[in-house]
Amino acid sequence: MESSDGMGAVLGVGVRVRVLRVSDAGAMAAAYRRNREHLAPWEPLRDEAFFTVAGQRNSISAKLAQYRAGSDVPWVLLDQGLVVGVMTLSGIVRGPFLSANLGYWVDEENNGRGIASAAVAYAVGAARTELGLHRVQAATLPHNTASQKVLQRAGFQPIGLAPEYLQIAGTWQDHTLFQLILH
Ligand SMILES: CC(C)(COP(=O)(O)OP(=O)(O)OC[C@H]1O[C@@H](n2cnc3c(N)ncnc32)[C@H](O)[C@@H]1OP(=O)(O)O)[C@@H](O)C(=O)NCCC(=O)NCCS
Repeated sequence: MESSDGMGAVLGVGVRVRVLRVSDAGAMAAAYRRNREHLAPWEPLRDEAFFTVAGQRNSISAKLAQYRAGSDVPWVLLDQGLVVGVMTLSGIVRGPFLSANLGYWVDEENNGRGIASAAVAYAVGAARTELGLHRVQAATLPHNTASQKVLQRAGFQPIGLAPEYLQIAGTWQDHTLFQLILH
């Protein structure tokens, strides 16, 4: 079920996906506080301000500036007003690359409902249709089996191991790269 702007929808799992708004700052801060331990092994180190409403207002404003510049699409996943996840297409590059990176997380209490799988399928559709991209890449820690399952369900293929690819939980860590060719 697509809404008219092409950047929002209600997914089959009953979760709304739409572009982030500054007014989401309170719900975003609450979601990051609830999921602090759940996300810590998979995300960059966060300072304390990140978990506050003011910190989220700043973070969302920066993401929306990237959105307006055409380099990112920051989505929030909502279930009856509760933030149950975040998903971002970042580093959108045009020209001969025509590619972007996909990242996401889902609220611990809502894991296993198929939310990530539905959201990734949605992002792939938006990347192909609204954004006209050729390729989407995603990087997972090699032991992130759940995320790899989500990507492979959406048709992503592993393309190799990138040594010391991202600084996660304070350490430069190897990542398995996945890509999906859209056309
Ligand atoms: C990975 C993550 C996004 C999955 O979200 P989700 O909404 O639970 O995903 P889905 O329900 O769509 O699918 C997850 C699949 O992985 C499976 N799974 C979960 N944990 C698993 C594990 N430890 N080993 C193997 N499979 C696992 C689930 O059973 C499910 O498969 P199924 O539908 O065939 O049963 C979520 O757990 C998360 O946010 N983790 C922390 C942050 C993160 O890893 N982000 C991605 C970075 S690349």
